[in-house]
Order: sequence, then C-alpha cells, then structure tokens
Amino acid sequence: MALAGTNILIVGGTKGIGRATAVAARAAGAIVTATGRSAESLAELPEGIAGAVLDFTDPASVSALAETSGAVDHLVLSASDAAAWGAFAEVGEDALRAAFDAKYWGYWRVIHAMAPKLSPQGSITLVTGAAARAALAGTSGLAAVNGALEAMAKVLAVELAPRRVNTVSPGTTATEAYAGLPNDARTSMFAATAAKLPAGRIGTPDDISQAILMTAANSFITGATLDVDGGAHLAR
Ligand SMILES: NC(=O)c1ccc[n+]([C@@H]2O[C@H](COP(=O)([O-])OP(=O)(O)OC[C@H]3O[C@@H](n4cnc5c(N)ncnc54)[C@H](OP(=O)(O)O)[C@@H]3O)[C@@H](O)[C@H]2O)c1
Repeated sequence: MALAGTNILIVGGTKGIGRATAVAARAAGAIVTATGRSAESLAELPEGIAGAVLDFTDPASVSALAETSGAVDHLVLSASDAAAWGAFAEVGEDALRAAFDAKYWGYWRVIHAMAPKLSPQGSITLVTGAAARAALAGTSGLAAVNGALEAMAKVLAVELAPRRVNTVSPGTTATEAYAGLPNDARTSMFAATAAKLPAGRIGTPDDISQAILMTAANSFITGATLDVDGGAHLAR
C-alpha cells in the first residue's frame, strides 16, 4: 500500500477516530506518531505507535512538537476539545470563541508549524464534521468552526501544492467524545440519530479512519471534502 514506510503524524491520535487511524496506518506499514495531551493518555497507545505530547491550544506546545519532529509525509488532524453545541439563540459569544480557540486555531497552529516539515509528496487531512454543511438545528457553532476549516483547506490545497490537503467530514461516530454522557442518554441519542440517517446507523471510528487513509494514500485527491456521515449531509 502507498502508505508503507511513510511517516504519519496524527494529532489527537490517542482516542476515537485518531486512534483508529493510527492503528490502521501502522497495520498498513506506516511509521506512526500519535499525539495526546499527557503522558498518561500516550501510555495507552498500542505497541509500535510512537507518542508525542501536544496541546494545540498552547503555542509553546505546538512549537516544541515542530522543533522535535522529523520530516512528515502525512499529517492528520483529528483532535476534539471545546465544541459549541446548541441553538443559535443560546450559544453565547464566549462558548463560540472557546470552540474557535480550540479546534479552528488549534488546527491552524499545527498546520502553520508543521507545513515546512511536510514532504512535497505528502498530505494534510483535516477531520472536520458533518455539521459544516448539514444545516441541522442546534449546530450553528459546529458548522461555523468546521465550515471555516473546510473553506481554508481548499485554499491550502492550492498554496501548499504539490502537497495535498483534504478534509474528511464525519457524522456522529461512537467515540470517547461522548464518554461524558450517562450510558442511557448516549444510547438513546445514538439510536435517535441512526434512525434519521439514510445509512440507518451511526459511524464507527474505523469507518472514518478508512476514509482518512484513503485520502492520504491517493495522490490524485486534493482540495476534496469527503462526507463519511451515513448521509447526514442529506438528512432532513
Ligand atoms: N465523534 C463524533 O461524533 C464526531 C462527529 C463529527 C466530527 N468529529 C470530529 O472528529 C475529530 C475526532 O473526534 P473524536 O470523536 O475521535 O474525539 P475523541 O475520541 O474525544 O478524541 C479526541 C482526541 O483529541 C485530543 N485532544 C483533546 N484536546 C486536545 C488539545 N487541546 N490539543 C491536542 N489534542 C487534543 C485527545 O487527546 P487526550 O488523549 O489528551 O484526551 C484525543 O486524542 C474531532 O475533530 C471532532 O470534532 C467527531
């Protein structure tokens, strides 16, 4: 496979979609480094995957990663921090600014710092989110952050060429991101979401990681947004 022997850096690689991507990339023969915010979260990484501490809300942490990192072929951004859920009338300015500070500026900061390390044959894949284009009530904050990243990524695909830049846009996917919900609430939220989707189910981390690795490996895909959301961008 095209990824064998390549260096892949996965931001947010300790859990959920990022972790599944790290495991699949390693199985495909890539040399994988996964980031988490602490030594404790990195200790849970499977054997054969290197760990690096990164908090992308902290410019010094991002600079330290870039300084210690060697050349990278494929950069995957799959981290999740503050998110601004809720109806437009109820999401306050502080919550939306916190969401931009986390995911938008976090991704931006890492791409800025790591782009000079990226090989010309390499790629960047940003994991965004179906809310960016699904027009679902209660997701204007998610739409704004992920939509801004998707718009930026297409310009980067031109500016950073021949490096490729793509976005993979997941729908609801069963990951640790929902660990804070009580079990019953999580199960019924997943079931209600699945019932509205053309695919009839929510996603697994492997559904999304397969798409991420496909965009990294296929040297003819750039400036694309791949919806891996069970049809959420179509649902009404
Ligand atoms: N799951 C979904 O339903 C869904 C739907 C649409 C879009 N997405 C997007 O998919 C991406 C991955 O989501 P997920 O569900 O896989 O998340 P997750 O399971 O909660 O994992 C989040 C990852 O991000 C890392 N992280 C958290 N805060 C960070 C920070 N400040 N700096 C750097 N890394 C940080 C975590 O590291 P630690 O080990 O330190 O916690 C962990 O590796 C996110 O961009 C999310 O918005 C997810």
